[in-house]
Amino acid sequence: MSESASSDESVVCHIGAQRRLAEPCSIIIFGASGDLTARKLIPALYHLFKEKQLAAAFRVVGFARREKTDDAWRSELRAALDQFSRTKPVDDKVWSEFAANVFYCRGDLMDAAAYSRLEEKLRSFNSAPLRQNLLCYLATQPSQFGVIVERLHGAKLVRAGKGHGWQRIVVEKPFGHDLATARELNDELTTHVQEEQVYRIDHYLGKETVQNILMFRFSNSIFERLWNRDSIDHVQLTVSEKLGVGGRGGYYEEAGALRDMVQNHMLQVLSLIAMEPPVSLESECIRNEKVKLLKSIRPLSSKDVARQVVRGQYFAGSVAGQQTVGYRQEQKVKADSNVETFAALKLFIDNWRWSDVPFYLRTGKYLPISASEARIQFKPTPHVLFAAECGQNLDANALAIRLQPNEGIYLRFNGKVPGMSVSVRPVRMNFSYDSEYGAYTPEAYERLLLDALCGDATLFIRRDEVETAWGIVDSIRAGWEGKPLTNREFYAAGTWGPMAADDLLAQSGHIWHEPRVDFG
Ligand code: BG6
Repeated sequence: MSESASSDESVVCHIGAQRRLAEPCSIIIFGASGDLTARKLIPALYHLFKEKQLAAAFRVVGFARREKTDDAWRSELRAALDQFSRTKPVDDKVWSEFAANVFYCRGDLMDAAAYSRLEEKLRSFNSAPLRQNLLCYLATQPSQFGVIVERLHGAKLVRAGKGHGWQRIVVEKPFGHDLATARELNDELTTHVQEEQVYRIDHYLGKETVQNILMFRFSNSIFERLWNRDSIDHVQLTVSEKLGVGGRGGYYEEAGALRDMVQNHMLQVLSLIAMEPPVSLESECIRNEKVKLLKSIRPLSSKDVARQVVRGQYFAGSVAGQQTVGYRQEQKVKADSNVETFAALKLFIDNWRWSDVPFYLRTGKYLPISASEARIQFKPTPHVLFAAECGQNLDANALAIRLQPNEGIYLRFNGKVPGMSVSVRPVRMNFSYDSEYGAYTPEAYERLLLDALCGDATLFIRRDEVETAWGIVDSIRAGWEGKPLTNREFYAAGTWGPMAADDLLAQSGHIWHEPRVDFG
């Protein structure tokens, strides 16, 4: 083998610029005293700085109601970083260089005068890009998004389109409560800025393994040619969580599993697994294909919902040896709540590639393990050859994409058991991120923040994606309307959901496969 062909380096293909650097800008965090800032945003910015991916000139300005000095805020952030940083210990030198660029601006989100103070603060920065290139991160309640953008516009900090530098608005879910409220929110957001300036975060898209779905599908000829109804029997997507709703009962009562996980993370992952190849890697091309896929999901009538969607709610049980309370006993949860903590769906995608292939999605709180996995279950072989020995038990091939934990991919196929007899048994070929690349996995927020700073919207959700996904979720909710949970819809904490979830697959002769977490 020639030297170049044997070197792994020779086959690394860098897509786009080899190393992207954010342009000089100011990052303004609204809701700066909240959890998200301390746990995710500042640790992500610190690591981007540490890895020299932020521009040489940048500022971070925290905007929140409480009175505090720049130094007091810096100390709070440092304490949180010590706790939440993915690399430990925090590097003191890097931190103090980073922290010198961090400022605080006191203000009420509703108060126009506070935005004048913010404008003054920005004016004190000594270069035009720091005053004009603004990444405004709204780590606040969605009900405040509209007013913040309106006030920013009023203070002439934010303009629609390009001109004086760039201004981008980053928002977190929930993007509405249903299709109608999502439209209202989107209208509000785009009253003073254009859709291209809005970056809607779904943190699942920042996960390495989720990004790898497209690379895996479209850079390997052996899988993509099987990626269709001719070879694939069905697809399972499981996002299970070992935790219950904990202290988030108040939020969860308004959300439920469908709004909390399916409308966003799960439909996003599904669209990456099932979409057609994009014309190019341009963000609009990828997002167009995702929307096309979501629009191909077969609409569900109320009758279909009864047949194809299962909801569940946990009652007291035991998870990892710990006794747990039922959902209705959680704080801020109504004693007769009908909110679902589990959902399982059977969806069909009405396009040429996927016609009649079931896509099963399930997610829930207080399930036995925390794991996310997409499993592509191939069609069985004709049983002629091994029928006498193995019969129906001959395993069909499967490809599992482990999104978390122990990120990786494994292929399950059959092999002969050594010995004189003819026995066949499934074996696994396993690719593990950690073994291949070491334990370096940037946090989703690092990737997403860097992309937003560089103006790359590929991993952010476009308005039509959000609204199409809400259309699907709304039709399911309509099917549940006025129907309280029945006994069959409860499950003990620490189990895999209600029995009805198994029945959903049994109708078509399928069974759920539990995600594997036991190998790295
Ligand atoms: C959030 C949901 O969006 O995603 C939470 O609101 C959920 O309820 C979380 O626990 C799961 O994210 P991850 O990255 O831990 O799988």
